[in-house]
Amino acid sequence: MPLPAAELHLHVEGTLEPELAFELAARNGVRLPYADTDELREAYRFEDLQSFLNLYYELMAVLRTEQDFADLADAYLARAAAQGVRHAEIFFDPQAHLARGVAMGTVVEGLWRALASSERRHGVSTRLIMCFLRDESAESALATLEAARPYLDRITGVGLDSAEVGHPPAKFREVYEAAAALGLHRVAHAGEEGPPEYITEALDVLGVERVDHGLRCMEDPALVERLVRERVPLTLCPLSNVRLRTVDTLADHPLPAMLDAGLLCTVNSDDPAYFGGYVGDNFTAVRAALGLTEDRLRELARNSFLAAFLDDDEERRARYLAEVEAYEFGDTVA
Ligand code: HPA
Ligand code: ZN
Repeated sequence: MPLPAAELHLHVEGTLEPELAFELAARNGVRLPYADTDELREAYRFEDLQSFLNLYYELMAVLRTEQDFADLADAYLARAAAQGVRHAEIFFDPQAHLARGVAMGTVVEGLWRALASSERRHGVSTRLIMCFLRDESAESALATLEAARPYLDRITGVGLDSAEVGHPPAKFREVYEAAAALGLHRVAHAGEEGPPEYITEALDVLGVERVDHGLRCMEDPALVERLVRERVPLTLCPLSNVRLRTVDTLADHPLPAMLDAGLLCTVNSDDPAYFGGYVGDNFTAVRAALGLTEDRLRELARNSFLAAFLDDDEERRARYLAEVEAYEFGDTVA
């Protein structure tokens, strides 16, 4: 039985497996510049974040209808459930779809179709987090929030993703203020490729409640101390870090040092179709490569539920936490 966990850092567009990409391409009459799934998989060798993003945005061309988004999310939820995920907070990138002429309503209602039945079909509770693309303008982010207004009952929070370096969080002060005023939760990618200062800025200027990645906080002891003191959750993505060369190998990942420092770390899959695994695969890989003890693995699972946006359903959080405490480890965690 897999270790129960919440997934808090997951880009739904990053769950597009090659098989589904080709299926949707055929359904929508979209031509992909790859002969077959094997050739597409060959392209999954990334130098850095940007080289991944290029493919990530390219493949989105196959997502056109509500049903496409529903099928995408449903396939993720089925896989996640099989690996122990009990609660998923799912990022989506509306600007990447709006730019292709796909309406906000198509994206949100399509995703919602899968999310609304997730609990019954997969035993996974869900939240939606709308991300702004940081390499687009602040005005575009504001227009995106405006376009999402009719759908805010379906959206729990906002996030910030895409190319990090050169796009500091402060650029998005205004849209985060507007999101806060609308009662939305706030997270942001920071300290993946960008410097530790971006993490501080995300906290101070954007008021984020969690930091996505946050890996490079380890370069600044005062920042680590602050993150520990303020119990700021970090959503780490170990397999992503290896594939995007943020760390050399999994054995070099700072996760053990981060836990030893007292940081509230969680383990997530980021873009599982591209980075070699879903949440359970990430747990299995860090357990093997970093020799994490059962206590540490349980701590990571516990942290995921503590960091989840379940403030509107504390009873559920308590139930999930009880599942973590009752979990009996075997040889596998996924
Ligand atoms: N980092 C930044 N932006 C992203 C990522 C990521 O890992 N995945 C999808 N958008
Ligand atoms: Zn991410």
